[in-house]
Amino acid sequence: MRLLVAVFICAVAGIAGCGGAAPFEPMLAAQPAPVTPTPAAPPVEAPVAPPAVPPVTPPVTPPVTPPVTPPLTPPVDIAVADPLRGATFFMSIPRADLLGCADCHSDNPLVRNFGNIFSGRNAVDLIRRAIANNTGGMAYLGGFFSAADLADIAAYLGNSPGSLLFPPTPAGRTSAPLSVTVSTSTKIGVGSLSISVQGDFLIVGGNCGSAIERFSSCRIDVAYRPGASGSRSGVLLISHDGTPAPVRILLGAESGPSALGPALLPLARAGHRALVPALPPLARAGHDARGPAELSARGGHG
Ligand code: HEC
Repeated sequence: MRLLVAVFICAVAGIAGCGGAAPFEPMLAAQPAPVTPTPAAPPVEAPVAPPAVPPVTPPVTPPVTPPVTPPLTPPVDIAVADPLRGATFFMSIPRADLLGCADCHSDNPLVRNFGNIFSGRNAVDLIRRAIANNTGGMAYLGGFFSAADLADIAAYLGNSPGSLLFPPTPAGRTSAPLSVTVSTSTKIGVGSLSISVQGDFLIVGGNCGSAIERFSSCRIDVAYRPGASGSRSGVLLISHDGTPAPVRILLGAESGPSALGPALLPLARAGHRALVPALPPLARAGHDARGPAELSARGGHG
């Protein structure tokens, strides 16, 4: 309901800074009282003229408001677009009084096309255009997310899951495949698609060609085949003309003798490994493992 109300108000009012104070207009503090000029001595020297414009006082935070957090500018690896980082950007904005993507577009944007968020799948240019055009009052977001951050968000919206975790696999054996789905915007497709993999992993199937039409998707099947060294991490890189840098899907494998049951992999794939230790009893008991822990994990990640 909060979503509906927020979007409705924002759509009706069509204002920047919707849902909070206008973010980029510094509040001017009261100007300092003018300094009374000292009575002039005999005019041997010309008195120093006061500056025409008083020095600008930094914006003052009202006492009731928490301190203003600086715009989100983490170190960004511009060599890749990272869907996991994009998910965190989508879910939160570093100002509690402002609405973030999830507040207006639902926190499950991989499944729910609320506010036409599917338009942003692998289409960073459309996200940037929506911000530049102040679509739905989104312009203020440009002050919080860099172009690289938005590329991460487009990668999150269009490539799922953002990481794959394979069960322990003996050296020289090939695991069962896990899949990544690459989805396109409701408005534009992608071309020049190329896929590569690094580490002890290989692409074993899927149905991706060199292009994906709009509002469509294709699938990449990846397997884990550790060599003698047993390296347990790698990357899947997905390049196309809708992303400024290849989308990087992290690949990993569990170590140890006891394999994770297949039912747990969706959890692990979603990047919530912290939840995994709590779940094996459920899986061993033969339940379908879609317990509350998984549901909440999905709520947090999509
Ligand atoms: C204040 C609410 C609000 C916030 C916050 C917001 N949006 Fe939007 N967004 C909207 C509205 C409203 C629309 C227009 C919905 C429609 O066309 O039905 C929209 C449209 C879009 C579209 C569709 C553009 C198109 O081509 O039609 C994309 C993509 C999008 N937003 C992405 C994002 C992303 C990514 C974020 C976070 C960085 C974000 N939005 C944050 C309200 C918001």
